[in-house]
Amino acid sequence: MRIIVIVGARPNFIKVGPLLPVLAAAGIEAPIAHTGQHYDTTMSDVFFSDLDIAPPSWLLGVGSGTHAVQTGTAMMRLEELFAAERPDGIMVVGDVNSTLAGALAAAKLQIPVIHLEAGLRSGDMSMPEEVNRLVTDQLSAMLLAPTEDAVANLGREGVEAGRVHFVGNIMAEALLRNLQRAEGREACGQHGLTAGEYVLATIHRPENTDHPERLTHVVAALAEAPLAVLMPVHPRTRPALAEAGVGEGTPNIQLVDPVGYLDMLALQRDAAAIVTDSGGVQEESCMLRTPCVTVRRNTERWVTLPPPTGVGSNRLVQAHRDDILKGLAEALTSSRDWQLPPLWDDRVSGRVVEALEKGIVPLGGCE
Ligand code: UD1
Ligand code: UDP
Repeated sequence: MRIIVIVGARPNFIKVGPLLPVLAAAGIEAPIAHTGQHYDTTMSDVFFSDLDIAPPSWLLGVGSGTHAVQTGTAMMRLEELFAAERPDGIMVVGDVNSTLAGALAAAKLQIPVIHLEAGLRSGDMSMPEEVNRLVTDQLSAMLLAPTEDAVANLGREGVEAGRVHFVGNIMAEALLRNLQRAEGREACGQHGLTAGEYVLATIHRPENTDHPERLTHVVAALAEAPLAVLMPVHPRTRPALAEAGVGEGTPNIQLVDPVGYLDMLALQRDAAAIVTDSGGVQEESCMLRTPCVTVRRNTERWVTLPPPTGVGSNRLVQAHRDDILKGLAEALTSSRDWQLPPLWDDRVSGRVVEALEKGIVPLGGCE
């Protein structure tokens, strides 16, 4: 079996990291096509080295642009590649524009689409990722779900149960396979911080970065946090901070470039609490037992929210100074003994292989 694995953005690289060697061991050929959606060394190369991922077989150089330009350019380049290579299937991961582009290009060539991290839903169609998730899942022949709520969402949307495989969370496996490698890392010390005495923050969602009033509230809250704040800054966020006239030089907040995966694991492990709008960080903080505050209107990571919705590692707050500070105070005093969600373990890749070995059933048609 030969499957082309499409990656493009930071979380994609991390998600395929643990899977590729397991596919290879099972005799499944899985060359990588990198769309080039993310291209800075700190947003791309560092993950290939940190996670020991083989270099991509194809670099498509798509780069940045509006949603249509980025998705369309990726589709054109992937279509050409798929038509020439005719793989048995293609795998897309997560919910970024490269995911949607891969699914659309392959579906039109009648090449089966396998979606890793299928079925997550925020219910918020103003999020580009929600559009990407919905369309990708409708086009997928095999849907690999990370959580029970993702399986239920797909059922509600009419996806045939036989296509859906509850494999667990690949981010959990990536973390478990790499945590030991992050063991000796004094990532916080490099920034003059002490383990347990700082808050880690990451903000990159357009709902926060592209609304100066919300970004100003986030920065105001972090500036008043009871502990020092370390903030690795996504390239989308840098200019937004500057435009909003906030950030640089703000007391209590240390802005740094994006960090590599192993440093990020160490920073999350050692933080007293995390403030984020990242999908992956909501999951990793749960695994690492570091309480999380998510600054968003909603989340597709329901499973991390307080009971009865989820396990209680995370709380959702609005992008308002008072809400964020209240959430942070609660996180800093909360217990860390939540249960981990089912199948958030180090055997997710093995379950993906089992699903593939059962066979991919192409979507029906008249030909
Ligand atoms: C994308 C995903 C988002 C994901 C995030 C992970 C979509 C719609 N969004 O958002 O779901 O959470 O990746 O980090 O796919 N830039 C650089 N260097 C880079 C990459 C980006 O400078 O290597 C800058 C460019 O100015 C670009 C902007 O960041 O316009 C946004 O990049 P883009 O890939 O369009 O979206 P993200 O915000 O990164
Ligand atoms: N991450 C990282 N360095 C950083 C910020 C994030 O390695 O400076 C990792 C993080 O640990 C997680 C992934 O990137 O594994 C999440 O990606 P991001 O927040 O960009 O996207 P999302 O998960 O929101 O789609």
